[in-house]
Amino acid sequence: MNAIGSALCDWSVMRESSPAACPLIPWAESARAACCRLDAFPCEPDRLADRILSAGERAHWMHMRGVEKRRREWLLGRCAAKEAVRGLLETHLDLRLSAAAIEIVPDAYGCPRVAGQWTGGASPAVSIAHCDGTAVALAALDADLAVGVDVESLNRRREDYEPIAFGPAERGLLAGLPWDLRGEWALRMWCAKEAVGKALGRGLSAGLQAFQITRVRAATGMVEVELRAAALAQYPLLQGKSLSVYTARESNFVFSAIIYQQGAVRMRPSRQEILDYLLQKLGELTEDWDYPDPVRPESLLFTELGFESLDAVVLCTAIQEHYQTPMPFAELLAEIGQHQRDLSINELSDFVNTHLDGPAAANGGTRRIQ
Ligand SMILES: CC(C)(COP(=O)(O)OP(=O)(O)OC[C@H]1O[C@@H](n2cnc3c(N)ncnc32)[C@H](O)[C@@H]1OP(=O)(O)O)[C@@H](O)C(=O)NCCC(=O)NCCS
Repeated sequence: MNAIGSALCDWSVMRESSPAACPLIPWAESARAACCRLDAFPCEPDRLADRILSAGERAHWMHMRGVEKRRREWLLGRCAAKEAVRGLLETHLDLRLSAAAIEIVPDAYGCPRVAGQWTGGASPAVSIAHCDGTAVALAALDADLAVGVDVESLNRRREDYEPIAFGPAERGLLAGLPWDLRGEWALRMWCAKEAVGKALGRGLSAGLQAFQITRVRAATGMVEVELRAAALAQYPLLQGKSLSVYTARESNFVFSAIIYQQGAVRMRPSRQEILDYLLQKLGELTEDWDYPDPVRPESLLFTELGFESLDAVVLCTAIQEHYQTPMPFAELLAEIGQHQRDLSINELSDFVNTHLDGPAAANGGTRRIQ
């Protein structure tokens, strides 16, 4: 069977059960993304696993321990994720693949990543959620997009979770909503936190209060989230940024989704972007210093550009403010003084690049977001 034939064979399993209505679909499609919701298995789970999973995924399925419910939600989530990615590749790249060729592999933090031999230049982002027999997946095509999705059921009986999930300001937002909408909006706010945690790739590991709901817009379903404390330490460049999460209710389920452009919030500038910024900043600072040549990456701050100690401190302060990240400039300047050596702009770029993700990253301990 040729590739397209086998693809049709695989995907026909999906078509045996039409994917369920999902209020995220029109929203996702307007952003060059795709969403899939599945409420039931299209066939018996082991048969489905045989037909849609790659060899590696099938081995994982076979060896999964724990409750059967967890195995089933994992499989349904994989099914929804593969279908969402398939839709994107077919619509935007005219690429038809078998379900097994679209692999969904968790990274070190559990965040699902799309893999496979076919990927070439394409590197779609995907996010998965499941609850009470429903699975939903959101996928986006462009490499600089990050996605997060969540679903929760209003049917599920819970003890009051609000005092732990929400701080006083967030409970104030809820108190401002009509009484009969409070339960639904509390769940929307919770789902918004989970969607942001997933889009950033570490879930809620920074703590529930580290994802602060700052605004809810009942008319549009939008919820604004800002990072605090431990989450900001993980993502310092999101200081002062508001992340917009779309939420919607469909029957007894609440959904949330976020797609954001990492470049737009400047998650993590590249080494080249840092160098460009430094060259521009130094060009501004030395404008009136009658320095004859253009400032180059090799230019030395003290002997060539004529920096004095105070100029260096002013520059370092400007860099910290620009990147909203404290860096050990005092130690750098002390080391330069002790060894009576100069500092090139290239070297300064390397220093900023190394310390931009905080002390753990400088010691090699933190994953970078690019
Ligand atoms: C990731 C997390 C938000 C998932 O929430 P949940 O309500 O348990 O489960 P959901 O159905 O909403 O989502 C599960 C999916 O999230 C995805 N996921 C797991 N870790 C993730 C991460 N770090 N980033 C993005 N997505 C992740 C997985 O695809 C998972 O499904 P799968 O294992 O079947 O592939 C949550 O488990 C979490 O924050 N974990 C990290 C730390 C932690 O355990 N904190 C306690 C929070 S109270």
